[in-house]
Amino acid sequence: MLQEGKIYIGTSRKPDDSINKGEYLELKFGNRHGLITGATGTGKTVTLQILAEGFSNAGVPVFCADVKGDLSGIGAMGESKDFLLKRAEQIGLEPYDFQEFPVIFWDLYGEKGHRVRTTISEMGPLLLSRLMNASDAQEGVLNIAFKIADEGGLPLLDLKDLRALLNYMGENAGELSNQFGFISKASVGSIQRELLILEQQGAEHFFGEPALKITDIMRTTNDGRGAISVLAADKLMMNPRLYATFLLWLLSELFEELPEVGDPDKPKLVFFFDEAHLLFNDAPKVLVERVEQVVRLIRSKGVGVYFVTQNPLDVPEAVLAQLGNRVQHALRAYSPREQKAVKTAADTFRPNPDFNCADVITNLGTGEALVSTLEGKGSPSIVERTLVRPPASRLGPLTEAERQHVISLSPVRGLYDEDFDRESAYEMLAKRAAKAAEQAEAAQRAEERASEETSGGGRWTLPGFGDDAAEAPSGKRARTRSSGYQRETIVEAAMKSVARTVATQVGRALVRGILGSLKR
Ligand SMILES: Nc1ncnc2c1ncn2[C@@H]1O[C@H](COP(=O)(O)OP(=O)(O)OP(=O)(O)O)[C@@H](O)[C@H]1O
Ligand SMILES: [Mg+2]
Repeated sequence: MLQEGKIYIGTSRKPDDSINKGEYLELKFGNRHGLITGATGTGKTVTLQILAEGFSNAGVPVFCADVKGDLSGIGAMGESKDFLLKRAEQIGLEPYDFQEFPVIFWDLYGEKGHRVRTTISEMGPLLLSRLMNASDAQEGVLNIAFKIADEGGLPLLDLKDLRALLNYMGENAGELSNQFGFISKASVGSIQRELLILEQQGAEHFFGEPALKITDIMRTTNDGRGAISVLAADKLMMNPRLYATFLLWLLSELFEELPEVGDPDKPKLVFFFDEAHLLFNDAPKVLVERVEQVVRLIRSKGVGVYFVTQNPLDVPEAVLAQLGNRVQHALRAYSPREQKAVKTAADTFRPNPDFNCADVITNLGTGEALVSTLEGKGSPSIVERTLVRPPASRLGPLTEAERQHVISLSPVRGLYDEDFDRESAYEMLAKRAAKAAEQAEAAQRAEERASEETSGGGRWTLPGFGDDAAEAPSGKRARTRSSGYQRETIVEAAMKSVARTVATQVGRALVRGILGSLKR
């Protein structure tokens, strides 16, 4: 059953239930994307697992999210269980060998794997707006914040950098509006509140340095297998927008950083997007369009994207149309929406004269699916009713001890475990403010000295140029004036400083890609 250049998915059956033929995913079409759908408990995760195994064995690194914790077993040797052996026999898989796979565990919270982080700057305004579910007005303010930071050389690394910049924008909304476009204080305030919520949800773990280097999810082992990066997503799923935004960021990062390779013999990386409906659920139209664009273009960078979701209607049509390799597990068809999903799923396959797709979809057993992959010059194969192969690795989770063991042997051990807080917007703005305050204080002292001199026998005053005040008998008035002066100086100094950096950085302003992340 196992063949060079192909991943064995399972074995299809004829209408009389006898063995038909092996069903494969051709590695050279691995970058033509895919879709795994089916109702809950029908075998999606196992299908993801056997595909990830196949890619890894072919030397292709894989990134996937472990939404329920049941995918971690891919890092351990499979165990001979009756139902697995039975399945192997049913499909003629001979020999059925067990195998453990090279896994790197990742976790935004750093509990079940290596920390994954990115910086606010890297993420960009579009995805950050999505993360915050920002209104148009708030998104406008975020865009300006990034403009000020990108042009002004203020690195936005973590949430406190963004908070400092927003404070600064709120305090100087008037002056900054003239230069960068209207900044509504109300919108700044609401973004600040949204930031607080994000922090409470633990998003601050995700922003900062060292940021994930995508080369670390593209590793292979010495014996030529692709590393399988497994992102612990059970806790992350409690914040679905963070989950979706993170995966989108990673996708855009791959897109921006990887070179064009055309259509390679096998993919450079395969990316499984589990619970893909979260990506598109009430996503603004522009984001959906950009995602569609990235999915279309990332293929020529050798990256295959596989969406995993319950309902094919979860994926927008423009994206669906680009998913060449399909595994459709059973769907229920009680409600009208479910019936529509069955029809959509059935209609997308190249029909098989032996059966009616829509009927079969509702009658598939667990671990059974309609399979169609790209073949020949890249056209979809005739859909076949297929029993999916049993995994070679363990079906079910690793124990905590096993997980810690894998982590202790990881090739990225020590690279991401500690936070690194270098000087960025927060510190720079604080410094600027301190410097401006110092200057203001010096100016005030000079002014006071001058005013002492004036009052002590000064003969010349310049009426209308402020010198009159020196003659005012009340010290209170003088103080009010100087404190007003001081505040102005802070703003001015900071503004000048931003303007100066802008001037020196013109032409070097940061460039952002399709999804708004930084282009290098
Ligand atoms: N190819 C297979 N070979 C043998 N058993 C399978 C296979 N696929 C699925 N099963 C059985 O079905 C169970 C459920 O499969 P799986 O966890 O993949 O479903 P799922 O579609 O991911 O469900 P959910 O939507 O709840 O995540 C597995 O635990 C396993 O017992
Ligand atoms: Mg599952």
